[in-house]
Amino acid sequence: MSDKKLSLNGKVVSAPLANIAGSAYRAMALRYGAAIAYSEMISVDGLVRGNRRTLDMLRLREGEKPVCFQIFGHDPKMIYDAARIVAGTGCDMIDINFGCPAKKVVRNLSGAALMNDLELAEKLITAVVTAVDIPVSVKFRSGWNRESMSFIEFGKMAEACGASYLVLHPRTRASGFKGKSDWSKLKLLKESVGIDVIGSGDISTPEEAGRMIDETGCDYVMIGRAAMGAPWIFQRIDHYLRTGDDPGEPPLDQKIEIMLEFCRLMIDDFGERAACLKLRKHLAWFTRGWHNVTRIRPLMFSVENYRDIEKILYNYLNDLEKVA
Ligand SMILES: Cc1cc2nc3c(=O)[nH]c(=O)nc-3n(C[C@H](O)[C@H](O)[C@H](O)COP(=O)(O)O)c2cc1C
Repeated sequence: MSDKKLSLNGKVVSAPLANIAGSAYRAMALRYGAAIAYSEMISVDGLVRGNRRTLDMLRLREGEKPVCFQIFGHDPKMIYDAARIVAGTGCDMIDINFGCPAKKVVRNLSGAALMNDLELAEKLITAVVTAVDIPVSVKFRSGWNRESMSFIEFGKMAEACGASYLVLHPRTRASGFKGKSDWSKLKLLKESVGIDVIGSGDISTPEEAGRMIDETGCDYVMIGRAAMGAPWIFQRIDHYLRTGDDPGEPPLDQKIEIMLEFCRLMIDDFGERAACLKLRKHLAWFTRGWHNVTRIRPLMFSVENYRDIEKILYNYLNDLEKVA
């Protein structure tokens, strides 16, 4: 069993999210209460071949800590080399993705496909554990489908290989994101291993986070979709887990300042034009549920610079204040 552990301040973890959890997203998660932020999934192949766009995913900004980079691949030699490249960034942990259900990933015998090939998965985990000195985390699903629920065997194998953290998203590959994640499997996993378990799936409120810990005994909770467009959720959950009180959502003017803070980070990373294209989906998430938001939606989908975003948001706030 691995004795490599991180000293984390809190129990709330920001989830790996493909094409979303880049440096700006992670920095916001960390500023707003996450104990550690996982990255988007990064291709081992791209890293080892020196693909520029893949290598760019390894950028870390000042103060962005602790961070766990998530990699995916299927070749033990390549994942060993990739892990060394990743560790060279000074990140705090490396996670291996065994949960991605996407066709183009599983067709390549990566992601969730490896839940069907424990022998190869074992070689991959061992390769990463051997390659680096930092802790290794392993993220997986309950199994390939209802007939092959391999999560306990998988978790025990990962622990024996020297993984320090297990992240379980208790749905099968076949179920994708349908239905509810089955938290009882988190409890079973936690009871079967000696290392820390991070629970992932369907937490959207502080109470749900507390309930997952109470019901399953998991050590950390991971937040994915509920944090998209709501980085303050980490602080809310963290506060609730420490005190039993939910401070609630920040007021609208504060939310707008937080959105703009995120926009500035994205612009730092990608330049104004490219950032604005990427930001359009984030703006839609941030404004989910806002009063009369359909009025500003078309504007948000056509933003081209920071000034556009600022204008839309401040005008919206002013109009709302006039009505109130
Ligand atoms: C848009 C999107 C992208 C995701 N990308 C990744 C990924 O790159 N790696 C990974 O391990 N899981 C990924 N996941 C799964 C999440 O990390 C998480 O396990 C899952 O969404 C369940 O948690 P939630 O209900 O809090 O969202 C992704 C999920 C979503 C919705």
